[in-house]
Amino acid sequence: MAGKEYFLMHKDIAVCLMEIDENGRIAHVRRNEAAKEHFPLGGQMNDMKFHEWWRDRAIPKTRHGAKTALQKLGYTSTNSALVNNLALSLSDCYWICLREESLSWKDVNLFTNDFVDSFGEITINQSYEVDLREKTQFNCATSQGELQKKWCIDADGRRYLLKGNYGESYQQSLNEIFATKLHEKQGFHNYTKYQLIRVKVDRDREGLGCMCYDYCSENIESISAWELLQTVKTRQNESLYYPFKQVCLSLGMTEDAFTSFMDYEILSDYLISNTDRHMNNISVMRDPDSLELLGFAPIYDSGNSMFYQLSERELSAVHIPDIRTHSFVEKEVRLLQYVKDRNCVDLGKAEMDFSIYEKDIEERHGRIPNLQALYEKKIDSLKAFQNGKDIWKNALYQ
Ligand SMILES: Nc1ncnc2c1ncn2[C@@H]1O[C@H](COP(=O)(O)OP(=O)(O)OP(=O)(O)O)[C@@H](O)[C@H]1O
Ligand SMILES: [Mg+2]
Repeated sequence: MAGKEYFLMHKDIAVCLMEIDENGRIAHVRRNEAAKEHFPLGGQMNDMKFHEWWRDRAIPKTRHGAKTALQKLGYTSTNSALVNNLALSLSDCYWICLREESLSWKDVNLFTNDFVDSFGEITINQSYEVDLREKTQFNCATSQGELQKKWCIDADGRRYLLKGNYGESYQQSLNEIFATKLHEKQGFHNYTKYQLIRVKVDRDREGLGCMCYDYCSENIESISAWELLQTVKTRQNESLYYPFKQVCLSLGMTEDAFTSFMDYEILSDYLISNTDRHMNNISVMRDPDSLELLGFAPIYDSGNSMFYQLSERELSAVHIPDIRTHSFVEKEVRLLQYVKDRNCVDLGKAEMDFSIYEKDIEERHGRIPNLQALYEKKIDSLKAFQNGKDIWKNALYQ
């Protein structure tokens, strides 16, 4: 069956007309040449890229709890949830509008209109019963990432993101607080502040999650490094650091702004052994009206760090130079080769309080001394690095 015709909108600018079928697949994309600067950067190169941009916009079907949420809300796929909620997000200003409907941005955007993210709620607490009296126009705000999460509105109307954890442990949430504390100590400002929050998890059990306020608004939208990289040709297996830098500079960022942020992010990630700084975990901010680049989005998503996935026994076998990461290169230590200002992290202000990890479930308390010992080893290797040693050169292989 042919789909319905929708405009893809950037606020109130129609950037293309397209058909969307009932499974959320798009076809017959006709771009509005007069507004081509507003077309999503990730899809500017060609239609294949645009299809990918659209596919990536839906909540990943591998998101924990997504299957139950789809069933309970009566959606056949995360793509149909996307279409039903007009593809609205709290990280940018794109949305879709049926061709024959005359809706405007002010009627639909989630920054100022009410919503109840029931989809997100169910991913966190699968026993959540959708209350139809609570029904608002939108029951899902799209977002990326594997962890359960939901968007909420606090008493002052501020939008915030609540995130859960994999499995039984709360360490990923605790790691976000740990990272927040490190940035605070360092006096670094461009980071997303996370707070611990009690959440109802499965079978209405109380658990711990974390929350952070939206760093976007109607005047600030976020674009991931992954999306920016879709605007240039890259070679397979090439480190994406320099292509990413090239795109940021071509959009008007100064070399100094790029390097100083990346230096700090790489070094602070190294300290906390964040092994998940992939290209969707780095973003820039843009003014959605003038399209001006505003700089880096505040550091976010540092939860996959501090050896959260290792057992007590595995922790004692960690060999720091062998740590693998999902980032520009495979070996964590090799990320340090990009750092220009080796002293942008002050090791005199890096002493951390590990008691935060006592909030994790009892069975994991035995891991805390190992975490502390590994963190201290990291401090020692950064000391060597700051004293001029190219520590990655000791690594046995890339
Ligand atoms: N405070 C925020 N304000 C605006 N957008 C945000 C905020 N936090 C996260 N996002 C957006 O939501 C996406 C998912 O969030 P996040 O990376 O924290 O989730 P995750 O499930 O831990 O991801 P991953 O799969 O990388 O582990 C981010 O890539 C970013 O685009
Ligand atoms: Mg992420």
